Amino acid sequence: MEAIVAVYSDWGIGSEGTQPIVVPEDRRRFAEITRGATLIVGSKTLLDFPGGKPLKGRRNLLLTRQDGEVEGAEIVHTPDEALSACEGDGRVFVVGGATVYMSMFPYLERIYVTKIGATPRSDAYFPNLDSLPEWTQSESERFSSGGMDCEFCVYEKTHA
Ligand SMILES: NC(=O)c1ccc[n+]([C@@H]2O[C@H](COP(=O)([O-])OP(=O)(O)OC[C@H]3O[C@@H](n4cnc5c(N)ncnc54)[C@H](OP(=O)(O)O)[C@@H]3O)[C@@H](O)[C@H]2O)c1
Repeated sequence: MEAIVAVYSDWGIGSEGTQPIVVPEDRRRFAEITRGATLIVGSKTLLDFPGGKPLKGRRNLLLTRQDGEVEGAEIVHTPDEALSACEGDGRVFVVGGATVYMSMFPYLERIYVTKIGATPRSDAYFPNLDSLPEWTQSESERFSSGGMDCEFCVYEKTHA
């Protein structure tokens, strides 16, 4: 299982239900990498998607403790249920937010990170992968966007 996330310099990922700074290069990378894949998304992040709707061209698994129906998404109530639902799927991406990344973190093997060189106030964070010995950065591509230094990174989980 993989994850994809954009982080600020302090590994903040959002504030008050949204991302205070977005860069178009990251949006394009997200669209390309996740096209055709299965996504695991939390209910708060879903609200921040365009129109508050599941993303088209992908299978959307909505992780929530609530019952109900959401057009374009399949509801799963626990991480285990999410795992069972996506068994046999090709690529599966955890797309946030913070509590969903944490819920699925033990199952992640690869994480696509876009580092955005800015530190807006955040109330949601991703673990600092540079401080976790089991995670190794395998790819790096630096670019500049809106005057900010940014970097596309890939991290792989290493097994002892
Ligand atoms: N920078 C990025 O790449 C990125 C990506 C995604 C999101 N974000 C940001 O992250 C922030 C949102 O994160 P968040 O942590 O507040 O919300 P979230 O993870 O999007 O959604 C939280 C909700 O998901 C459900 N949930 C989470 N873990 C669960 C579990 N183990 N079992 C069942 N349901 C579970 C619950 O839904 P119910 O309350 O419905 O039960 C919970 O309230 C926003 O600021 C957003 O912009 C940033």
